[in-house]
Amino acid sequence: MTHPGATHARPADPLAVHSARDSVVLAAPAKLNLFLEIRAKRPDGYHDLESLMVAIDLFDTLELRVIDSGAIALTCDPDTLSAGPDNLVYKAAVALRTHAKRSDLGAEIRLAKRIPTQAGLGGGSSDAAATLVGLNRIWKLGLTREELLAIAASIGSDVAFFLTLPAAWCTSRGEIATPEEAPASGFHFVLVCPPVGLGTAGVYKRLAVPEKPVAGDAVRSAFRTGDAAALGRAIFNRLEEPAFALEPLVGGIRRRLAESGPCGAMMSGSGSAVFAVCRDRAHAKQVANEFVQSRPVAEPESRVLVVRSFTP
Ligand code: C5P
Repeated sequence: MTHPGATHARPADPLAVHSARDSVVLAAPAKLNLFLEIRAKRPDGYHDLESLMVAIDLFDTLELRVIDSGAIALTCDPDTLSAGPDNLVYKAAVALRTHAKRSDLGAEIRLAKRIPTQAGLGGGSSDAAATLVGLNRIWKLGLTREELLAIAASIGSDVAFFLTLPAAWCTSRGEIATPEEAPASGFHFVLVCPPVGLGTAGVYKRLAVPEKPVAGDAVRSAFRTGDAAALGRAIFNRLEEPAFALEPLVGGIRRRLAESGPCGAMMSGSGSAVFAVCRDRAHAKQVANEFVQSRPVAEPESRVLVVRSFTP
């Protein structure tokens, strides 16, 4: 088990780690959806939703440097990850210079990936948001936050949230992110990343839009007051049912995590990662140990982390 919270000191600006004239290093955090309800299916094929998203201390790292050639030269660690035009980092760089009408601009980008993909943790979206912020700075474009938000929405539904850290209430298809008041103490979680991923589109395809959507008032109030017991009772995710139908292993892992003694357990986003809300770090370690030790031999091993939400 690793404890990312112990190894990452959080800088005042959550994204900036190091900055120079024509280069920058950024930490791109993962998110958890503490609440996700679907309100309607839209004519454009997307779904209107309501979600409470919060950043946690599990990070990818991006190193961005201006180059003269006009190329977007992306390399990924591990190199099994696509570094081509389908990578959201690449898409963000191209969308930014297209918006600025500056196709002459080039950048070398190194992405060190720690956030698991296809996990519902927003890693790709966070990388894209960090790319927008970083290149806007080193390309000296001076785009406003509103312009960056508009470009973010064109890249993916979750990208705007990562420009609205540490916590936000997200609506529409997810791209309207309203800052949510975060408690000074933060929350402690056990994060379990199963060895299988889930594709977002596939999960949404299996979704039944609810006739009576659940309201987010209880989860928002528990979050604002920093009440872990109340938060554990109020967490909700409408995408669990279709995700568990697609990948029963994830449903089994979520049930077992809920039985390991936390305040509550839920899947994040469209999965496959699940998390448990805990009272404090000691409680989270205890729940993680119980979860690891109770694994049936037939269940493949998951990655288990103790993480903490960002504080204001
Ligand atoms: O916006 P993003 O590219 O992350 O969405 C991936 C897929 O998830 C979409 O193509 C769509 O099928 C589904 N989706 C949805 N409603 C949302 C967000 C995503 O149906 N609000």
